[in-house]
Amino acid sequence: MSEEGWEQKYVKEAFDTNWVVPLGPNVDAFESDLESFLGEGKRVAALSSGTAAVHLSLVALDVKPGDEVICQSFTFAASCNPIVYQGATPVFVDSEPDTWNMDPNLLEEAIKDRLSRTGRLPKAIVLVCLYGMPPKYEEILPIAQRYGIPVVEDAAEAFGSKYKGRRCGTFGQFGVLSFNGNKMITTSGGGALVCPDEETKRRVLFYATQAREPFPYYQHEKIGYNYRLSNVCAGIGRGQMHVAEEHIRHHQRLASLYSRLFSELGGVEVHLNPTDGFDSNYWLNTILLDTSFRCKIEDVRQALERVGVESRPLWKPLHLQPVFETAPRFLNGVSEALFGRGLCLPSGPCVSEEDVRYIVDIFKSVL
Ligand SMILES: Cc1ncc(COP(=O)(O)O)c(C=O)c1O
Repeated sequence: MSEEGWEQKYVKEAFDTNWVVPLGPNVDAFESDLESFLGEGKRVAALSSGTAAVHLSLVALDVKPGDEVICQSFTFAASCNPIVYQGATPVFVDSEPDTWNMDPNLLEEAIKDRLSRTGRLPKAIVLVCLYGMPPKYEEILPIAQRYGIPVVEDAAEAFGSKYKGRRCGTFGQFGVLSFNGNKMITTSGGGALVCPDEETKRRVLFYATQAREPFPYYQHEKIGYNYRLSNVCAGIGRGQMHVAEEHIRHHQRLASLYSRLFSELGGVEVHLNPTDGFDSNYWLNTILLDTSFRCKIEDVRQALERVGVESRPLWKPLHLQPVFETAPRFLNGVSEALFGRGLCLPSGPCVSEEDVRYIVDIFKSVL
């Protein structure tokens, strides 16, 4: 059956059986598909977005006003906004140049500094798998463990990525997945929180469904949220699981092709797995322009735009965002330098190998 065939079958079932609500057979089956996909005995709560998943992980970790939460600076704002929803303060940590994710040395420096200044440890660490690339787990997780700080692994962009054979999203106390329209698989909009066990999933679902206490009437003793995934959207997700592996292979094939063609051109570096254990899904293929070129990365972006090719600057680091200007930060210049030289290139399932050659040719003509 075609991709749309599976999706339409499950969505039709939702209508035919009148499960047009934020629970039902598609939600249960999608969660169980995700649990099999991820392995490691994890339990998955399907939610309305990846942002909701970040938020509920912080609720479950009891992050409160006055707390501090360490967050990778080089990421999309959704990794961090829920820290502020909880009335807590983000503390930004810069990246290392190999994976573009959290720098372990700076992480430890940040923990020690905040402890000495505030007398308290940060309540959690939001670690991101940027553009699908796994972070340096083997250096970061022991630091988090040493200080007893739980890790929320924001794998919103890393569905299907692996580190030493294990899926991203399963390394932290919690893992975040996103199924937004632009992600590796989509439910149109949606996300999931990867939980360590059934009891934690049950608690997360309690908060995701308005924190209703088990009474015959509506009794509330906690503040809840309306964050459950629709059974209709979960039907799309079930359909997408049939093609997930193929989508991942497609992005990885494009990464190899971009890399080969750009290495022939010279001066443009494709961001690749730094060593063998890293296995990125290459959600977005990203490049860095050599600083020796007279033209700037924005000139290239505009040249691509003129011929109808959409590319995007890398995420602007959160410590540079006006909305977070007062947040504490631990910097080494890496994310700012990457932001000034990098670009995300078309990588989705509709991008053909011919498209990649065309895009590299545009670079050739501009450079
Ligand atoms: C790193 C990162 N975290 C969180 C999110 C939030 O996911 P969603 O758009 O499903 O809320 C996204 C994507 O949008 C993301 O790229």
